[in-house]
Amino acid sequence: MAVTVGIDRISFYTPPFYLPMATLAKARGIDPDKLHIGLGQRDMAVLPPDESVVTMAAHAAEAILDDDNKAQIDTVLFATESGVDQSKAAGIFVHHLLDLPKNCRVLELKQACYSATAAIQMAVALIHQQPDRKILVIASDVARYGLQSAGEPSQGCGSVALLLSANPAILAIEPYSGYYTQDVMDFWRPNYRDEALVEGKYSCQIYLQALAESWDHYCAQSKRQWRDHDIFLYHTPFPRLAEKAHQALCKHVGLTSSSSEETHAGLDLALQYSRTIGNCYTGSLYLSLASLLDHQSADLSGQRVGLYSYGSGCVAEFFSGILQPGYQAHLLTAHHRAILKDRKALSINEYEQFYRFHSQQHDNVDTPHISHGRYRFAGVDDHKPQYQRQKSPSGVKVVSASAPGKLILSGEHAVVHGAPALVIAVERYTKATVSSASDQKLSFHLPDVGHIGSETFHKLHRLKTRLQEAHGKFRRGERGISDIIQKPFELLQYTAANALDKFATPDDQGFHIHTESNLPIGCGMGSSAASIISANYAIAHYLGKTIDDKTQYQLGLRAENLQHGYSSGIDLHVAIHGGCHLFQNGQSTVQNMPADTNFYIVNTGAPDANTGQCVTHSRQCFQQQPDLLEKFVEVTQSIAYALQSANQAQLIASVRLNHRLLVEIGVVPAPIQQFIKQIEEVGGAAKVCGAGSVKGEKAGIVWLIGDDQALQTVAHQHGFSIETLHSDYDGVKLI
Ligand code: HMG
Repeated sequence: MAVTVGIDRISFYTPPFYLPMATLAKARGIDPDKLHIGLGQRDMAVLPPDESVVTMAAHAAEAILDDDNKAQIDTVLFATESGVDQSKAAGIFVHHLLDLPKNCRVLELKQACYSATAAIQMAVALIHQQPDRKILVIASDVARYGLQSAGEPSQGCGSVALLLSANPAILAIEPYSGYYTQDVMDFWRPNYRDEALVEGKYSCQIYLQALAESWDHYCAQSKRQWRDHDIFLYHTPFPRLAEKAHQALCKHVGLTSSSSEETHAGLDLALQYSRTIGNCYTGSLYLSLASLLDHQSADLSGQRVGLYSYGSGCVAEFFSGILQPGYQAHLLTAHHRAILKDRKALSINEYEQFYRFHSQQHDNVDTPHISHGRYRFAGVDDHKPQYQRQKSPSGVKVVSASAPGKLILSGEHAVVHGAPALVIAVERYTKATVSSASDQKLSFHLPDVGHIGSETFHKLHRLKTRLQEAHGKFRRGERGISDIIQKPFELLQYTAANALDKFATPDDQGFHIHTESNLPIGCGMGSSAASIISANYAIAHYLGKTIDDKTQYQLGLRAENLQHGYSSGIDLHVAIHGGCHLFQNGQSTVQNMPADTNFYIVNTGAPDANTGQCVTHSRQCFQQQPDLLEKFVEVTQSIAYALQSANQAQLIASVRLNHRLLVEIGVVPAPIQQFIKQIEEVGGAAKVCGAGSVKGEKAGIVWLIGDDQALQTVAHQHGFSIETLHSDYDGVKLI
C-alpha cells in the first residue's frame, strides 16, 4: 500500500503585541475603512525587541513537540526571508533551544514567501525515501516595510511550525503540483536594507497572474479540475488579496459568482488569523490552514484542499492535500486562541519604538525584557546573537503598581516657598511593572519617554552618582536645572538605582521595569511623580519589602529634585495618598472631596520650559515682591472654601484672581492669557494648573470653570478639546 505523507501537527506563534489598524489609521491620517475593508485587516502583530524569527520559531515548534516525536526528527527546514545571519541557518539556534537530536540536518530556505512550500515538498520527498523519519518545517518571518509607507499596514509577524511524517494526522500532501517562475521586481530586499522594497499594486497583479499560471500547470499535471476540490487556501499578504485571488480563480475557470459562494465561506474562516496577525510571509499560507481548521466546527475529513503559494520575485506553486480522518483531535485550537487573547495593543509610539529598535541592531546590544515567553533574544555579544531559554515563563515574578496624577487647583509656585497649595488626585495613572529577568541587568521599557534599553547595576550606580553630583552643583549655583537630567528616561533609571540601593538588592538578580501612563508628560499633571512612586512601590513589593509612606516620599523627593531643582513634594504626596489636600511645607491637611468631582480641562501642550526653569524664574518674583506670597495664600483658601461649599460665584471669582497672580509671576504664555480672557468673557474662569511656562506658547493643563456649551465654543476656537477628569480617593496601590 502506498504511504501517505504530509502534515502531522501544526501550530503557530505570534508575539504578545499588536497594533490595531484603527490606531495606525488615526496616526497616519488614513480612513480606517481603507485598512479594515480595503485590505481586510483589523490588527497587525508587532515584533518586540527581545524576539526574532528564531524565538518565534522555537515558540511555535515547542507546541507540537514531545519527547517521542522529537527523537524521530532528523531534518529541520527553516523557511524565512528574515534570516538572522548571512551564513548560519537560523534553524540551528532553534535546534539548540529545543534540544533536538544531534544526528539531524538543519538548513535555511529562501525564496520570499514561497520557501515554506519548497520545504514541505522537500520534506515529503525525504519521508517517502525513509518513512520512519519526521521532519520539522518552520516558516518564520517579520514583514517590514518603511514607517509611513504604503506597505506599512500590510506588515505583521509570526511563525508556523509543521511536523511532517508518514501517515500524517492532519493533511496528506498529494503528488502533482503546478509551478510558475518569472523574473520580476515586485518585492525585494537588498542585503543593505532591513525593510522590503515593493511595487505594491504591481505585486498584486503578478500574484494574480502567477495564480492562473500555476493553477493551469497544476491541472495539466494532476488531471484534476476545480470541482475536485472542496476548499481553496491562498498566500495571504493581506486578507482582501486572498478574497480577490479566489474571485480571480473562479473567473479563470469560468465559474459564475453564485457557484463560488460555497467555498468562500471556508475562505473567510481561513482568513481569521491573518486579519489580526497580518502578513507573516512564509508562514502566511499555513496560518490560513490553521485558521480554517481551528474555526471550522464541521468535520472536513476527506476533503481536498487546494493551496496556492506565492513568493515575490517570483515563484508560485499550486498543490493539494486531503484532510485526514480524526484530524480535529490533533489541533491546538485552545493554545492558538490563548496566544491571541493574551496580546497587548500597542500605542503608535510603542509600535514605532519597537520598529526602530530592530533597525538599530548592532554589536554588543542587550535587549530589554519585554515579552515573557520561554525563548528570548537577549542581544548581540561579540557579534554573536544570544538566544535564551527562560526557566519557566509561568514562574516569572511580576508585580505592578499604579499611582495617580494630580491637578493643583491653587497655590502652585507659592507652595515651593512655604504657602499652602490645594491639590487633588485624578483618575489618570502611571503603572509600573517589575518582573524578573534571567541576566544580571536592569532592563527598561519606558514607552512614554521613548526608551528601550538595559544597563548593568554598575552603570546605573555611576549614573546615580553623576546625577547627584550635578544636583549638588545646581544647588551651589554652578549649573542650570536643565543640565542635570539629560535624557528623560534617566529619571526612572535613577529611581530604580536608588530603590535597589535602599533595599540592598543583590546585584546577581535581573529585573525588567516597564511603565505605561495615560497622564500627559510634562503638562503639570504629575506624571513624573506618578512614575517615580509607582516604580518605587512596585520594586519594593517585588523584593518583598514593605515601604512606608515616609520612605516613599523621601526616595521620591530625591528623584524629583533632580528634575525640578527644589521640589515642593506636592505631586509625590498626592501620588502616594490620593484624595484632596491642602499641602504646605511637606505636610498636608486632608480636605473633603469637593461636591462636584468632575473637572474640565484642556491640554494646551507640553510647555517649552520645564518645571525647574519655571520655578527658578518665579523664585525671583517672590523675592522681589514679598506680598505676592500672602496673596497666593488668600486665594488658595478662598478656592478651597468655594469648592467645599459648592459656591460657584466665589469659585469663579477666586480662580480669576489666581490666574492674575500666575500672570504676574510670568508663567502664563500670551496665547494662553488670550484664551483665558475669552473664557472670562463668556462668564467662566480658567487657570493654568501646574508650573505653566516662562517661554513659548503652551502652558500644559488649564482648568476651566463655567457653562459647558460656552466653554466648548471658546475651546474649539483655540483648537483645544475639553476633557473631563474625575477625582480619585486612592493613592499608589498594587494592581
Ligand atoms: P495602497 O496604496 O494603500 O492601496 O496599497 P490602494 O490605494 O489601492 O487601496 C487599497 C484598497 O483599499 C483598494 O481596494 C481601495 O479601493 C480600497 P481595491 O481597489 O484594490 O479593491 N480603499 C478603501 N476601501 C474602503 N474604504 C475606503 C478606502 N480607500 C481605499 N475609504 C498595498 C495597498 C497592498 C499595495 C500596499 O499595502 C502594499 O504595497 N503592501 C505590500 C505589498 C503586498 O502586500 N503585495 C501583495 C502581493 S505580493 C505578495 O503577496 C508577496 C509578499 O507576501 C512578499 C513575499 O513574497 O515575500 C508581499
